[in-house]
This record gives sequence, C-alpha cells and structure tokens, in this order.
Amino acid sequence: MPYKSRKKANKISDFIPEYLNILNCKNSKILVAYFTASGITGGMAHNIADCVNADLYEIEPKYCYTREDISYWESRACRAAAEMYDENCRPELADFEADIASYDTIALCFPIWCCSAPKIINSFLESYDFSGKRIVLYATSDRDGFEKAYEAVKGSVNDDVKISEGAVKICCEDENGEIKEVKTIIYN
Ligand SMILES: Cc1cc2nc3c(=O)[nH]c(=O)nc-3n(C[C@H](O)[C@H](O)[C@H](O)COP(=O)(O)O)c2cc1C
Repeated sequence: MPYKSRKKANKISDFIPEYLNILNCKNSKILVAYFTASGITGGMAHNIADCVNADLYEIEPKYCYTREDISYWESRACRAAAEMYDENCRPELADFEADIASYDTIALCFPIWCCSAPKIINSFLESYDFSGKRIVLYATSDRDGFEKAYEAVKGSVNDDVKISEGAVKICCEDENGEIKEVKTIIYN
C-alpha cells in the first residue's frame, strides 16, 4: 500500500498538549502531513499523530536532501538555501498519494527554512485541492518562529482555506548530539 497512512487505535491520548487544542481533535478528521529533511520535524509529526489519533503522510521530495544540501549554517549556497532564494522554485514531489479529500483538518508540519516554509510545502499545497479545509501549521526551528511561513502557505491555497498557526518547537543539539527542545512557541 503506497499511501503512508497509519491508523491508530480508537482512543485519543488522555494527555493532549496545549498546542494541539486548536486541532479540535474530538470533532475533526485529522491528517498530519509533514516534511522533514533531518528528522526533527518527523519526530514532532509522529508525536502529534500519536496524541490526536491521526493518520500520517510524509511529504517526500523526488530527490532526497543530502547533508550537504541542507548545510545552511555553513553555506548559503547549499541546495536548500538556493531553493528558498528562488521565488518560483517548486521541488518535485516523490508521489501524489495523500488522500486530502478524506480529512477536514490538516496539521501541516515542516522545518523553518529562511524564516519561512520550505518550497516543497508549496509544491505539496499546489498539488491538491484543499478547498474548505482547515490547515494548522506546526514547525521546528533552531531559533525562529513562523515569521514568513503563514504568508508563504496562504499564497499556495484558495481563499476558502482556513489557515491557523499552531506552534513552533525550537530545538538544539546538546553536547551528546541529542536533539533537545528548548521551548515551544504556541500561537493560539
Ligand atoms: C535551508 C535551511 C534554512 C534554515 N533556516 C532557518 C531559519 O531561518 N531559522 C531557524 O530558526 N532555523 C532555520 N533552519 C534550521 C531548521 O529549521 C531546524 O534545524 C529544523 O528543526 C530542522 O528540521 P528537520 O530535521 O525536520 O529537517 C534552517 C535549516 C535549513 C536546512
């Protein structure tokens, strides 16, 4: 089955973190759609899906990002940065298997790139019909909040799509190479 759906047991977690309240978990059918280049946002997306009993869909690029491709802090000329500086860049998707029609709320998770959403998020949004749906944004970053992400997302969907900012988890690597959450900025 190519579609990356993972059905959970019929029980919403007893503990729903505050930043997930906006998803209105009990009354909406939720898909957690996520892009992750180095895995941190993937962890966040899986946590959200576990907490709210949602299905998961990974937004994957046709051509995976290598370590060099995302070496943003070393080189502003890396592939990922170059994509962000190109207004019209729409990286190719690996598949078009997301069953968006079956959900009313999409928790859209991505890493903050150049104070915005990675361009593959625009590729994803422009490949499906989100009319009448709610999209709640979640992100991870090294230090920044959503900054320009809301506008970037808004520009790729119809006017009848309700977009809300959920939360940004700011993470850092400790001395043992473990990823630690520094703080979570909650927007609602
Ligand atoms: C091209 C690129 C640009 C980035 N720009 C920012 C930024 O503007 N602000 C920030 O706080 N972090 C920035 N980061 C760091 C990522 O947001 C952060 O490491 C994120 O948690 C990585 O998520 P991932 O492991 O799911 O890919 C950038 C990373 C890359 C690769």
